[in-house]
Parts: sequence; C-alpha cells; structure tokens
Amino acid sequence: MAPNSTKPRLLTGDRPTGRLHLGHYVGSLANRVQLQHSYESFFIIADLHTLTTRPEAQSIRDIPLYIREIVLDYLAVGIDPQVSTIFIQSAIQETYQLNLILEMLVSVSRLERLPTLKDMARDAHLDSMPFGLLGYPVLQAVDILLPRARVVPVGKDNQAHVELARELARRFNNLYGETFPEPEALIGDVPTLIGTDGQHKMSKSLGNAIYLSDDAATVETKIMGMYTDPTRLRASDPGTVIGNPVFEYHDAFNPDKTEVDDLKERYRAGKVGDVEVKKRLTKAINIFLDPFRERRVYYNAHPKIAQDVLTQGIRRMQFEAHETMEIVRAMTGLSYSSEMFADEIDLFGEYDG
Ligand code: TRP
Repeated sequence: MAPNSTKPRLLTGDRPTGRLHLGHYVGSLANRVQLQHSYESFFIIADLHTLTTRPEAQSIRDIPLYIREIVLDYLAVGIDPQVSTIFIQSAIQETYQLNLILEMLVSVSRLERLPTLKDMARDAHLDSMPFGLLGYPVLQAVDILLPRARVVPVGKDNQAHVELARELARRFNNLYGETFPEPEALIGDVPTLIGTDGQHKMSKSLGNAIYLSDDAATVETKIMGMYTDPTRLRASDPGTVIGNPVFEYHDAFNPDKTEVDDLKERYRAGKVGDVEVKKRLTKAINIFLDPFRERRVYYNAHPKIAQDVLTQGIRRMQFEAHETMEIVRAMTGLSYSSEMFADEIDLFGEYDG
C-alpha cells in the first residue's frame, strides 16, 4: 500500500456515466495499458464530476452501476490491478480539501473561456452554468495533482483541462514553493474518433458508439448501418476514402494493412461495394474486441476480484492523498489542528492575563 516505486506517476480516468467505447480506447485506454508498466499508474472513477451536471439523488443512485461497468472495462482492456491503482474519487476526502485551495488560484474568466464547459452545459440541457460545473476542470486538476502525476493520457477533448492543471500546479508552486510536478497531457493515436454516424465524435449520448463490451452481433449491426461516402450511389462509382468513417475505423482497428490498402484502392476505383468493406471491418473489430470479451467474462464470473481491486485502490490512493495534503498544509501554512494548539502553538501568548 505504501509507495514502493520511484517510477514517475500517471493519472487519468473517466466519469461513471456509461460503458467505455472504441473512442475511449484509441484516445486514452491504449496508452494506459501500454504505459502502466513504465509509470506508477492511478485510474480514477470520477463520480464527483458527474454531480456538475446531475446532482439529483436519482442520478447518484445510478452511479454504482456505471462504476461496475467501468471497472470491468478497465480490467477487460488489460489494465493490470497488480501494478495499477483503480479508485473512486468521492472516497478520497482530500479531494474536497485541495479543491478549495486550487479554486483560489484561477480566475472565472479563464474558466469561462474553456469551450468544453459550455458544451457540457448544453448537452445536459442546463440553461445556466452551475458554480460547480465552472469548477469542473479545477476538480480535474485536483485529481491529477493529488497523486502528483506527471503524465495524463486523455482524449483530445480533455487536453485543455490538463493544460489548466499545469497552470494551477505552476501557480501553487510560485505562491507556496515547489510542491507539484507540472502534468502533461498524452493524446492517443486517434485523438478524436468519429462516431458510426460519421457526423460527430463517438459519444455515448449521441447513440453513435461501438462499446468495448458489445457482442459480435451488435458490432455487426452497428457497422452495417454505418454512414460511408454519401455521394456514392453504386459500388461501381469511385468512392472517397478520406473522411469516410468506415476507412477511419479500418485504419484504427484493422491490423492487416495490406487488406486495408487494397480495399482503399478498389474503393477509389469503384471496384468494391460498401458491404464488403463493412464486412471486413466487422471481422477486424470483432477480432480486436475478442480478448476484451474473454477477460470480461472471467471478471464477471469472479466479482470478488473487482471488489478487491477497488478496496485496495482506494486504500492506496487515500495514503497518497493524505501525504500530499500534509505537504500542502505545510507549504501554505494552513496547518492548524486542535492537537497543535495543545502542544506547540501559543497564539495567545502575548495576551497572558
Ligand atoms: N474529464 C474526464 C472526462 O471527460 C474525466 C476525468 C476526471 C479525468 N478527472 C480526471 C481525466 C483526471 C483525466 C484526469 O470524462
């Protein structure tokens, strides 16, 4: 449980609002799986972040279901609980404490300039901006700084938030002395994966996602219904490959580059139909997802493992967060406690009598 590693730290995570999809995989999960052995890795399930747009009791009651799905997704893609820490944000009391300190170090106008916040307010159909939603990226900075992480693998949409975390680390260090490393975002190979609708980025709320936990038949239905080149009416018409989501997926998930190049060439020449291109994509994606499905079946059958992963993960992060807040209290001078009044500090010494 105690830190026994000198490796640099990595932190990233997800809000428990739904299952993870292929966009998450290429944006961030692939990097996590790969880097977990070279970085000491912390994966946060950011339940407090969901309160920024959905504070209702019913929404909070839905969280455990999604936590379960996300832990299973993590384990399924190959996050190794022997080396990585998975924990739940709200279990870490220091999160609330550091949040208040960091809130003092950023201006409202800096936060208002982040386009992500307006998008979130709009997507959640909020007509005014909750104070806490404005603070979303500050809370995210807290997540990153509590374990003193250096690297943050995220999708493109979170890059601006990591930049803010960097600014907050720098500002804290300038005011109170060197405490936090400046974290850096690490963006995946496909920074923004297009959805099956070919219109918007892959997103749970838009119904254009292929989930890591989808079965083979569901994947087939979704891919066969995918948007391709809208100007192409017959298989003999020359088609466009660039910007065609079916080919973007081939590039991202089909390891057989010779097949992909051949399909592209024939597509451009009007010598292959959409159906064949999609069938081959279905096959590639199902082969890609198969190992995840197998691990998911295993962890589903052994629920105790996932349970233990969270228990250990929360303990481990509590230890780190406690240590960081001790440092923060010492650096800022906000280190009052009843014990220290009893023992050391005589604030009223001058006023004796
Ligand atoms: N903002 C991330 C999202 O879009 C979730 C998140 C919360 C996060 N805290 C984080 C990501 C810390 C990286 C680091 O879902």
